[in-house]
Amino acid sequence: MADQSIKILRGRLLTFQTCPQGPDDVSAYSYEPDGALLISDGKILKRGTYSDVLTNAPDGTQVVNHQPHLIVPGFIDTHIHFPQAQVIASWADQLLDWLNDYTFPAEIRFAEKAHGKRIASEFYNALLSNGTTTAVAYCSSHPNSVDAYFEEAEARGMLMLGGKTMMDRNAPPELCDTAQSSYDDSKALLSKWHGRGRSHYVITPRFAITSTPEQLEAAGTLLKEHPACHLQTHINENHNEIAYTQELYPDAAHYLGVYESFGLLGSKTLLGHCIHMTGHELQVMRETRSIAVFCPTSNLFLGSGLFDKSGMESAGIRTAIATDVGGGTNYSMLRTLDEGYKVLQLQRQRMHPLTSFYWMTLGNAEALSLSDRIGTLEPGTDADVVVLNANATPPMALRMETVETLSEELFVLQTLGDDRSVVETYVSGSPSKM
Ligand code: GUN
Ligand code: ZN
Repeated sequence: MADQSIKILRGRLLTFQTCPQGPDDVSAYSYEPDGALLISDGKILKRGTYSDVLTNAPDGTQVVNHQPHLIVPGFIDTHIHFPQAQVIASWADQLLDWLNDYTFPAEIRFAEKAHGKRIASEFYNALLSNGTTTAVAYCSSHPNSVDAYFEEAEARGMLMLGGKTMMDRNAPPELCDTAQSSYDDSKALLSKWHGRGRSHYVITPRFAITSTPEQLEAAGTLLKEHPACHLQTHINENHNEIAYTQELYPDAAHYLGVYESFGLLGSKTLLGHCIHMTGHELQVMRETRSIAVFCPTSNLFLGSGLFDKSGMESAGIRTAIATDVGGGTNYSMLRTLDEGYKVLQLQRQRMHPLTSFYWMTLGNAEALSLSDRIGTLEPGTDADVVVLNANATPPMALRMETVETLSEELFVLQTLGDDRSVVETYVSGSPSKM
């Protein structure tokens, strides 16, 4: 629940206004070395220098002094699988074997509400330890798992997005719904959760392989009926996946054409992976304003391939970055950016640390059309905030002895940091790190 009391968080504030266009683009962000946020009732009321915020605060306002640490907006993870908390770190071959051998068996256990509740509690602990205050998750195909997921979010006051995975073929019978039942269950869950507190429902057909045309049609109908909701699915992650999709949908011009033909694309559509894209697919992505979600640790772990960030951006496509746990190997957005940096290095694309920090905060919020609420320290937005320490471990502290600029510090955090660098995570103004 939102913390009703009024308080000041003091520290070194960093927040973005737009995507930095290069290392010297100081207009893209605000950095205040002795800054403060005035927080009340889950919202940021004021941002400024510490002395200014203190002078204008009511007498006796509590001050939480986080100096010399950095205060940034809470991290946003735009693609994660809640039922894969016990799949992460499974020794598997590539995507389709990994799904069949580890992922589907683990997801079957979510038929039981008690299991979902236990995993939800641990899952949210892991997010908050790592500074992630908002995530977009696939739940299992069981409605129970969606309830477990949103009940835990509600108890913690978190802005979370997620939905029931729709899948009606090419999976164990315990996980398969039908086109009709997936529509009915998704609709009921959407009515129950979307807009309740900070919860956002996401229409979630897993991917073309596990959905019949009838089910993708049902997903499209649901999206048309509820255009305020997001839709998430996977695309062009793995060569065997693409070949199998072409067999199942022989009339489609390409993989994206399958989703396009059922009306699944739009400015609230999150497409996980987007690695092996054709030129025409890129054009359709741009025209529909669909979002390509980069999942670096997963793409490396499953040997899927290298996401072409520059190619996406020069094609005018919106992008986001995410962990994709449990194909992804870490809950930390810092670890994710580090691996993302390396994926881009292999393609001679060098991501500047200011761009990285923009991406996992305001960039991801913009991709979700939620930048009026999260991903920023602007007054009026939700008080989801992370406090970071770039000296958290001896190797970090040693490296920090030679660091002179903010960008260098961010790069140390991204390259060497993890949950140990997260000093505190505030959700709706309440300290929530586990
Ligand atoms: N494609 C379909 N389902 C999944 C999943 O659970 N993880 C990943 N990485 N790709 C998928
Ligand atoms: Zn995924």
